[in-house]
Amino acid sequence: FLDGRLYQGFWLPEHYLPGVVAFQRRFTPRRPDDVVLVSFPKCGTTWLKALAFADVFTDGHEAMLDRLPSPRLINTHVPYPLLPEAVTGDGGCKVVYICRDPKDMVVSLHQFLRRLQPDLSFADMFDSVAVDGTAPYGPMWDHVLGYWRASLARPDRVLFLTYEDLLQDAGEHVRAMARFMGRPFSPAEEAAGAVEAAVELCSFEKMKGLEVNRRGTSGSYKSMPRDAFFRKGVAGDWVNHMSPEMAARLDEVFRDKLRGTGLTIPRGPRHG
Ligand code: A3P
Repeated sequence: FLDGRLYQGFWLPEHYLPGVVAFQRRFTPRRPDDVVLVSFPKCGTTWLKALAFADVFTDGHEAMLDRLPSPRLINTHVPYPLLPEAVTGDGGCKVVYICRDPKDMVVSLHQFLRRLQPDLSFADMFDSVAVDGTAPYGPMWDHVLGYWRASLARPDRVLFLTYEDLLQDAGEHVRAMARFMGRPFSPAEEAAGAVEAAVELCSFEKMKGLEVNRRGTSGSYKSMPRDAFFRKGVAGDWVNHMSPEMAARLDEVFRDKLRGTGLTIPRGPRHG
């Protein structure tokens, strides 16, 4: 459904392939404060981008504006093995990764793409994510495991988050992200409630309600209505879209792929 092309083991949407290859070959981040934000599609990209920006923002936005374009926040869906050497090598930049329960991801992707293709089949989408791994930037399990392993091997360089973690306690993870990015909240900022302010600024309701997000389209993928990026914003919505058999099947595939890695399928607050 997205004209995927298999490139170095991953299914990349054809229209993004030139950009991915250019990033891989030519990107040379040489600023120590560069941060690369990575996600599997529909796993919390928009939220992570907002929170990471808010971390820096609370540092004093006038000072930050003076210093633009650093610190740079770069956002991509590129799988770990395809990242430029300048990111993954010695002295490369910091990477923050976010993933999500694949059951919610597949529902989110289907609902998203259906805004452009109303007849898109959920069963096909499910097979693409759960069975053959051909979803955009998939296989999802390889995408997630690439960053998971990197976060274990290079914890000072790769921070691994889940959408469900953020739902559970956004403040705690915003603090961790700020520390990781080298911009910890100061005691004065803590006392002034900057963490809570950042979380509130980036909340689903706040972002969904912003005028800029309610109208118009985004050019990053065809002409997707901007409001399509803000649908439900919860964990566990899959129960309303897939049968228990499908859910069990997807869980089984991922459990099998994640076995022995120390990573388990993220569970939302609702699932304990
Ligand atoms: P749902 O479709 O399940 O609602 P991405 O940003 O990677 O495309 O991920 C999209 C998912 O993140 C969508 O999930 C969307 O509603 C949710 N989302 C977007 N902004 C959010 C926010 N500020 N807080 C929580 N979830 C958000």
